[in-house]
Parts: sequence; C-alpha cells; structure tokens
Amino acid sequence: MPTPNPQALEFLLSRRSRPAKTLKAPGPDADALMPILTAAARTPDHGKLEPWRFIVLQGDALTRLAGVAKERGAALGLDEDKIAKGHDQFANSPMCVAVIEVQKDAPKIPPLEQTYSAGAVCLALLNAALAAGWGANWLSGWVSHDRGFMTDALGLADNERVAGFIHIGTETSTPPERPRPDLDAITTWVDA
Ligand SMILES: Cc1cc2nc3c(=O)[nH]c(=O)nc-3n(C[C@H](O)[C@H](O)[C@H](O)COP(=O)(O)O)c2cc1C
Repeated sequence: MPTPNPQALEFLLSRRSRPAKTLKAPGPDADALMPILTAAARTPDHGKLEPWRFIVLQGDALTRLAGVAKERGAALGLDEDKIAKGHDQFANSPMCVAVIEVQKDAPKIPPLEQTYSAGAVCLALLNAALAAGWGANWLSGWVSHDRGFMTDALGLADNERVAGFIHIGTETSTPPERPRPDLDAITTWVDA
C-alpha cells in the first residue's frame, strides 16, 4: 500500500498563485529564501545537467531592471502600456527570483528536455514559496523574451534565457478562485 502524505496532497490540491500586483514587502530574506531555492533545485533533470540557475533580484537591482525595461521598451518602439508593464513588474516587486535556463551541450539530452526541466524549476520554486507562506507569482512578459533585456539587465550568455520571473512577497488580499480544468476533457484513460 502507498504511504500517503495528506498535508502535501492538500497543499497541491488547493495551491494558487497570488497576483504580483497584490504583493508587498517584505519578501523573504536570504535565510528564508535558501530552503525555497533548495526545494526548487530538487527538480527532475535528465542526465544531471543542471540546465538552470537562479538570479536573486532585490533592492536597487529591481530599480535598475525597471529602468532597463523602460530603455529597452523605448528602443524597441513598444507602446506606453507595454513599456509600463515591463517597468512595473520590477519597480513594484518586493523581490524576484529569475530562473535562468542554461542550455548544456549534451548529445544524449535533447534541448527541449532541458527547457522542460527549467519550467519545472519555476513551478517548484513557486510552490515552495507558497508552501513557506509567501505570496508568489510566475511572470514572463516581453522582458523575458527580449535578448537585449536579457543581456543588458541580467548579463545572460547566448546559451541562457529567462524561464520565468518568480515574484515573492507578502500577500495583501486573497485572490478569487480561478476556474480549473475539466479533468474529463483533458484526460484519456487507456486500458487496452
Ligand atoms: C510561463 C508562464 C508565464 C506567465 N506569465 C504571466 C505574465 O506575464 N502575466 C500574468 O498575469 N500571468 C502570467 N502567467 C500566469 C500566472 O503565473 C499563473 O498561471 C496564474 O496567475 C494562475 O496561477 P495558479 O494556477 O498558480 O493559481 C504565466 C504563467 C506561465 C506558466
């Protein structure tokens, strides 16, 4: 018989993100963040490649990134709303962990599997932050896809890209429940 962990299952069945806009300071300090990062790094990773790393963004770094988002948005000719979204993501964040996908040269492990692993790290980080009692939200936005922003703001190498920005802070309001998938519609049972 399996050995259940009802608390863990209850967490997974009820977990939900807290919109970044509703998060305020404080976020976790280094001591509080370390177990969250440790849990995130305990993620399935075919071939033990560690095709990811973390950049912890706090304080003046967030102000700097907000500024770079403004500059890049203007250079790209984006409209005001889009520029503001890129800027505000960092300007209003209590703290943020950028999960960076690092593509490794590995003949036996397809690049897509490294991408999946980086996405799994994002969810593990989000869930660990929520389980630790923080509000947290996984955001992307144009900043996470713009090579110029990745270079100017984060100093990423050519084999690196942003898998996700995980914003972590103190929640100010409980979000309404989000409709969840209809399991019958997305599940096929195959017995033969
Ligand atoms: C790769 C990825 C990028 C996302 N980027 C954004 C974003 O930029 N803005 C946004 O409002 N939600 C974004 N989301 C959605 C939220 O992170 C999240 O799915 C939503 O708030 C509900 O989360 P929950 O199922 O944990 O409650 C993104 C989700 C994923 C998986």
